[in-house]
Amino acid sequence: MKVIIINGPNLNLLGKRETNIYGDLSFQEFFENLQLKNKSIALSYYQTNIEGELIDKLQEVGYSYDGIILNAAAYTHTSVGIADAVAAITTPVIEVHISNTYSRESFRHVSYIAPNARGVIAGFGLQSYELALQSFKK
Ligand code: DQA
Repeated sequence: MKVIIINGPNLNLLGKRETNIYGDLSFQEFFENLQLKNKSIALSYYQTNIEGELIDKLQEVGYSYDGIILNAAAYTHTSVGIADAVAAITTPVIEVHISNTYSRESFRHVSYIAPNARGVIAGFGLQSYELALQSFKK
C-alpha cells in the first residue's frame, strides 16, 4: 500500500513554530517513527511552502497511490486551486490538522478541501496523521 503525507506552508518549521500550538517535535523525527511503526506501508512525505507545488504533487500521486494525508495548512482556508486538485484526483484524501482549527480564529473554520476529502481529522496534535494512516489500513 502506498500512502503519502503532504504538508503545506510553514509545516517545515514544526518543532520551532508556535510550540504551544504545534508541539516541539520536528516532523522529520515524527515521520521516521511513524515509518518504523508501519513497515508494511510504503509511506512517503512531501512538504512545500508553494501552493502550485502542492497541486503538482497531488496530480502526480493522485491517480496511483492508495491514500493521501493532506495538511494544506493555511491554504486549506484559501485555495480553490488545491480544492480543485483534490476533486480531480481519484486517490482518497484525508484532510488533517495538528490543531483544532474549530477552536481557533473564525477564518480557520473554513475548509475548501473538506467537501472533497474522505474525512477530516483535526486537533490531535501529530497523532492526527497517525489516525489518518490508521483509517487507510484494511
Ligand atoms: C494547521 C492549521 C492551519 O489553520 C494553519 O494555517 C497551519 C496548520 C494545523 O495543522 O493545525 O499552518 O493546518
